[in-house]
Amino acid sequence: MSKDRYLTFALGKGRLAKKTLELFEQIGITCEEMKDKDSRKLIFVNEELKLRFFLAKGPDVPTYVEYGAADIGVVGKDTVLEENRRVYEVLDLGFGKCRMCVCGPESAKELLQHHERIRVASKYPNIAKDYFYNKKHQTVDIIKLNGSVELGPLVGLSDVIVDIVETGSTLKENGLTVLEEICPLSARMIVNQVSMQMEQERIMHLLNSLRAALQENNN
Ligand code: PRP
Repeated sequence: MSKDRYLTFALGKGRLAKKTLELFEQIGITCEEMKDKDSRKLIFVNEELKLRFFLAKGPDVPTYVEYGAADIGVVGKDTVLEENRRVYEVLDLGFGKCRMCVCGPESAKELLQHHERIRVASKYPNIAKDYFYNKKHQTVDIIKLNGSVELGPLVGLSDVIVDIVETGSTLKENGLTVLEEICPLSARMIVNQVSMQMEQERIMHLLNSLRAALQENNN
């Protein structure tokens, strides 16, 4: 494909995007435009390297990448699993480390052990469903929430929650605990399946540079 084609990145808004841009700077990819906090622009361009960046809500990143509106995306593994889009997951960026867990009051442990039909609140209904139905073979009722999921067991909406645990302080402050661990999470780079073929050289070069930078940071 022509060298004039822009490679487009969709970055999940917030901490992940900031960390991603820091890592990109380390390999010589900068985007000065993006640092202007007052700007209302949505798309940022590095003309020299023929790169474009935009910020999107985390769950929308795999959508942009699947449809090819972005060649590459950076988003949490939680979102990759929940959205289950047809994209290639190519790199673990190592930051944004946390865990997807089943949490609740200590008393809910018994309900889990006895495979009772419990209520599970989560921002991640697909992950919760896959875990309980396919891995544990336990029938449960899943209730979708959009945030502050820890409220579920506190106000009697659900018996347990499936949520992200980072430091564990939200759980602790609310008298809840990790009951079961589902999987570890961190930021991932995803690639559109057609872009992977058409822009193989540029993408492989980028991946190699990122891998080298990540290794250097670990030493
Ligand atoms: C996330 C997650 C937990 C919390 C975990 O929520 O859903 O509530 O962070 O972090 P901790 O273990 O370090 O306390 P977020 O702040 O993203 O907001 P939300 O509850 O509205 O989803």
